[in-house]
Order: sequence, then C-alpha cells, then structure tokens
Amino acid sequence: MSMQISTTLSERPVDDQKLAEILANPGFGNHFSDHMFTVEWTPDNGWHDARIEPYGPLQLDPATAVLHYAQEIFEGMKAYRHEDGSIWSFRPEENAARMVRSSHRLALPELDVEDFVQAVDSIVTVDRRWVPDPAGEKSLYVRPFMFASEKFLGVRPSQHVTFMVICSPAGAYFKGGVKPVTLWLTEEFTRAGRGGMGAAKTGGNYASSLIAQREATAEGCDQVVFLDAQEGRFVEELGGMNMYFVYADGHIVTPETGTILEGITRASIIELAGKMGHQVEERKFSIDEWREGVASGEITEIFACGTAAVVTPDGALKWRGGSVETSEPESRVALDIRQALVDVQYGRSDDTFGWMHRIV
Ligand SMILES: Cc1ncc(COP(=O)(O)O)c(C=O)c1O
Repeated sequence: MSMQISTTLSERPVDDQKLAEILANPGFGNHFSDHMFTVEWTPDNGWHDARIEPYGPLQLDPATAVLHYAQEIFEGMKAYRHEDGSIWSFRPEENAARMVRSSHRLALPELDVEDFVQAVDSIVTVDRRWVPDPAGEKSLYVRPFMFASEKFLGVRPSQHVTFMVICSPAGAYFKGGVKPVTLWLTEEFTRAGRGGMGAAKTGGNYASSLIAQREATAEGCDQVVFLDAQEGRFVEELGGMNMYFVYADGHIVTPETGTILEGITRASIIELAGKMGHQVEERKFSIDEWREGVASGEITEIFACGTAAVVTPDGALKWRGGSVETSEPESRVALDIRQALVDVQYGRSDDTFGWMHRIV
C-alpha cells in the first residue's frame, strides 16, 4: 500500500549560487538539503501523517525514549546523477529489507519495503537539485532513520516511533585517486557478540566503536578492525565497512555473516566478483590466516567495502607490537571491482544485475 505524502515546500530554499558552492566541495555530512521526510507510527494508527517539510530542527521532550535507551536504527545509501541528468539509487530495496531486519532486532515497527523506497524517492525528487553532477564521484547521501519518539522513561518498546529521511551531498571519498588505508587491530574492544546487535544498523554499534576508532587514530591508522567477541580470533569487519581478502590464485574470502553488518556493497561484490571469474568464499577468517597469508605472499590484496568509499584497498595492518604490509601495492583486483561497481552506479556500464532504480 503506498503512502499519502503531503508536501510543504520551503519558502527559503538555498539559493542557486550558494548551492553551486556547496556542490563544488560538499565534503561529507556537512550540508543538508532543503527538505526532510517524516512519517509517524503508533500501535493504534500504524504508520501515518507522512509528510515532506522544510528541513529543520526537531523539538523533542527531554524524556523522549531514544535519548535514554537508544532504540534507534538507520540506513545509508546514495542517489547518483547520470550523464543524461536522470537520478538513480542502488538496490534501495536491499536497504529497506535491512531496515526491516534491524527493526525486528530493536523491537521497532516494520516499515514496508515499498514505503521505504517511496519515502526515499519522494524526498530525493523534491530535492533533486541537490544531487551533484557525476564528475568526481559525487552523490547525494541519503540517511533514512527510525527512532523511539515516545515521551516515557520506562524500559519497553516505544509506543510512538518516527521514521525520517534526510539528504546530504557527498564528495568523492578519496580526493586525488584511491589510496590504500592503514588498519588498526583492536584486541581490547569488540563490536558484536552472539545474540547481540552486530547485524543491525543501530546507533549503539557505532557509539561502541568510537573508542576503538580513537585508538586507531592515535596509532596513526585510518580504520579499526574488530575481531569476534567469543574467541578474539576471527576477523569481523571495520567500524563502518566489510572486508575482503584476495588470494594469489584469484579466489576471494569474506567473513561470514551473523555478527557483522550485512553490507549491500559486500553482497554486490559477491555477485560481481563471481561474474569477473573469482571464486568467492564466505567463511570464518582468522587473524592468523591474515598475518600468515600476507607474510607468505598467498594473500595479495585486502580491501574493505561500503556505500561511502565503495572499495578501499588496505595497505597495512598494525597491532600493539607489530604490523604487516599487504604485498601488492597496486590492488588490481580491488580497483577492478571498484571500477565495475562505480560504472554501474553512475550509469556508465550496463546494469546486467538490475541493481539500479530510477528515481527521476
Ligand atoms: C559496520 C558497517 N559494516 C559494513 C558497512 C557496509 O555496508 P553497505 O555496503 O551497505 O554500505 C557499513 C556501512 O554502512 C557499516 O556501517
């Protein structure tokens, strides 16, 4: 069932000159488009009052449940402008399905896949002038999120829930070409345990990753690597990206799902790499295999993937008392996969998997 969405346009949208300045150098998460989408849920009325309004602050009671118990989930996706001016999203129904899974874990109400996609399409359509030109891999980052908006301090699932979508233009993740990043292995902190929230896209997972990310930065590294909570032996993922290991014989390994966030880029690479002739294994992958594989030359490339950076080659892994460098600095497989994905997203190659969804 599709939502009835009321629209109130902003009387003070950003003027064309200011917008051109923003889109010339958007950075990430700094600027927000003129409008936002909101729909509310209560047990009696279900999802109701869907609307697009001028972007602006929310007024929240200090007792609003999310501020205390973090009952919150979100998604991250992008809208891409193609050379002909049309605007597209990449597998939006996968983000919608992941949000449904996250909502189950966080005891939040389910928003239909169709309604999620309609919400994203409608806000991007209203704010389409905020989608940058494709040059330099710019895009409009789209952030759907759902939170416990009931004013109540008891610990139970909220009886009032708000779902919103906001949009923020995003520049190229790598300025001046793709560069390998360095990784810090945290041996003290874990991200997710069995039965925990690791597979859900919920703010708490990111809050708990910050201390480890701070440690990584202090050690001169770009990103943090988390191991499994039970044995501290198996590679899970980075703070905000999934991981891939490329072997000299061409086969590729990625950690299996369960306690990691099931990335849409990760899933797409499984299909794409298969088509490019790589055998892909999803399995437990230990930190010893990483160290030994790199040392012996069996592992030739390591890369991370996610919506923000698409594919990031990883140059070195550091831990307290040691480090290993990946042997092949060119990261040929990673860069080929990256190019193939980006070409589909920006409409420069055939969308043979049917991944792209036209918004406008
Ligand atoms: C913890 C974590 N893992 C993996 C990913 C990659 O997911 P996706 O490819 O859907 O962006 C993200 C990005 O959102 C993430 O936050």
